[in-house]
Amino acid sequence: MANIRTQVGIVGAGPAGLMLAHLLHLQGIESVVLESHSREYVESRVRAGVLEQGTVDMLRESGVGARMEREGLQHEGVELRFGGKGHRIDFQHLVGKSITVYGQQEVVKDLIGARIGYGQPIFFEAEALHVSEFDAQPRIRYACQDAEHEVACDFIAGCDGFHGICRPAVPAERVRFYERQYPFAWLGILAHVPPASHELIYNYHERGFALLSMRTPEISRLYLQCEPDEQIQNWSDERIWQELRIRMATHEGFVLKDGPIFQKGITPMRSFVTEPMQFGKLFLLGDAAHIVPPTGAKGMNLAVADARVLTRGLVEYYKRRSAGDLARYTERCLKRVWLGQRFSWWMTSILHRFPHEDDFSHQIHLAELDYVTHSRAASTSLAENYVGLPFDTPGLF
Ligand code: FAD
Ligand code: DHB
Repeated sequence: MANIRTQVGIVGAGPAGLMLAHLLHLQGIESVVLESHSREYVESRVRAGVLEQGTVDMLRESGVGARMEREGLQHEGVELRFGGKGHRIDFQHLVGKSITVYGQQEVVKDLIGARIGYGQPIFFEAEALHVSEFDAQPRIRYACQDAEHEVACDFIAGCDGFHGICRPAVPAERVRFYERQYPFAWLGILAHVPPASHELIYNYHERGFALLSMRTPEISRLYLQCEPDEQIQNWSDERIWQELRIRMATHEGFVLKDGPIFQKGITPMRSFVTEPMQFGKLFLLGDAAHIVPPTGAKGMNLAVADARVLTRGLVEYYKRRSAGDLARYTERCLKRVWLGQRFSWWMTSILHRFPHEDDFSHQIHLAELDYVTHSRAASTSLAENYVGLPFDTPGLF
């Protein structure tokens, strides 16, 4: 068994783990990243697409934003569509900020490229099996190339997503979970067709929610609300396009062109929060600690925000021998997480059809959307949350 010694052992090479490793390296703090999948797999896993302005700034200021600046699509607003009409929420006008559409797997590629470029340790196909002694001398046991190894570290960062091993390693009496399941899922596709709009369109329709997004000027990303136990094989390409056309139709005759679909998947919807997010020297980040339903596009943004908070705590610890910021990790993260939960839950609630909703509920959805799109106060609130609430302390670098 080969043993490695490092300052921070990071489990998982998603946005949380990679961002943390990158920020720590810039501050001269050593880490080792363990990832159970191959590099090809994590670099091609299709997920999020919307970056808050704070996330964009973090990538740019930390030196990994060059490709995002070239290829990312900056959006200054978003459309809410209901009752056959579209209504634009103008972020720039309302709050002076914007968002950037840039695939999560592109962020992951850029961060992996930087990590390898700096010659820093990252092991793929290295599955963490067990984390232990996180109140004393933390250890991560992992399997790689049919052998078991160990990382001994000062701290463990559990960035291993919702189905990882770090959160379940915490004794039940030390942790509390908050959870909400939603009675629907999203069917998402990627298609070779230019986006039918240059900004995102969030659609509320009696038949359910639909979302038009994009990845590049040639590739559309679209989502449809579906049953939670939906079988993807029940949805032919033709049926998907037809349903999207119905839900996105306008009185003005909106045209949604179809194109070859090259990726399809079903995403369950859940709200989930772990409290606290730290257990001795084990810290949970991103989806390992919290999940939001995707409607507000907050998941990846919250994951990198946790990395920012933990970096600050670790810098204080190593450079000034003060554990004060580390002790406040949970408090700092959960404040933002609950605000993200509230916004995602609210966006989900107003834009989806729940089972057994009657005509009264439908009218309430329409009234809520009418209010949000016509009241300056309400649209400013949506805009402020969508582009991302400010970080509590500016200037980490
Ligand atoms: P993950 O990305 O899940 O990374 C965890 C990593 O840990 C994985 O690479 C996994 O392989 C690895 N791992 C797991 N177990 C182990 C182990 N035992 N040993 C080693 N490695 C392990 N968020 C947004 O901000 N904006 C959006 O627009 C948005 N849209 C979304 C759309 C969809 C369809 C989906 C599914 C999600 C969306 N999200 C969005 C959410 C976002 O993708 C997640 O919140 C984000 O991936 C969280 O990052 P993470 O690093 O915490 O976890
Ligand atoms: C995308 C995903 C979201 O959850 C969202 O709210 C907006 C866009 C996307 O994948 O492009």
